Amino acid sequence: MNGALVIAAAVGAFTGLFALWSWVMNRLDTSVAHPARVYDFLLGGADNFAVDREAAERGSASLPGGIERARAMVRSQRAFLASAMRRLAGELGVRQFLDIGTGIPNGDNVHVVAQQTAPASRVVYVDNDPVVLAHAHTLLKSTPQGATAYITATCATPIPSFARQPRHSTSPRRWP
Ligand SMILES: C[S@@+](CC[C@H](N)C(=O)[O-])C[C@H]1O[C@@H](n2cnc3c(N)ncnc32)[C@H](O)[C@@H]1O
Repeated sequence: MNGALVIAAAVGAFTGLFALWSWVMNRLDTSVAHPARVYDFLLGGADNFAVDREAAERGSASLPGGIERARAMVRSQRAFLASAMRRLAGELGVRQFLDIGTGIPNGDNVHVVAQQTAPASRVVYVDNDPVVLAHAHTLLKSTPQGATAYITATCATPIPSFARQPRHSTSPRRWP
């Protein structure tokens, strides 16, 4: 690649990232707690705002053990998800997964666990949160044998119409 192409690619990448960032910031409401960000806070992540942290504190105040108990429950839920994925992709031979309500990525993302077990696994992520979209690039790092895609949609979107939603994908094929 010559110098001009490298500069054009860098400018293109910057422009694309800036457009995505502007779109996310325009849709982001930091005055209302959001489940993805509350969950991220409970998992020890940094992608949350004061309103999300306050919601986590208040929401877990009535739990015996308070916020530490809430954190343990969320970690258990992630451990269960990873264990279920290993079983599905391993013993049961499932190769296509639809993850609705993806959440902000963390180390045990569905495609990572599935592809560690079966590298040809294909995963479509669906979420309606702009913060999750801003992290979608983390979800689009597939094995060469598999593929991942990210779709912005709600759980009320009929599954057949996912194919018409805007998507980011590691594969040029039209799927799901
Ligand atoms: C608590 S996180 C779950 C993360 C992950 N799936 C897990 O099990 O650890 C819930 C996610 O569901 C998403 N969500 C909530 N309502 C939704 C809807 N109506 N359609 C699509 N996604 C939704 C939120 O944006 C959030 O990212």
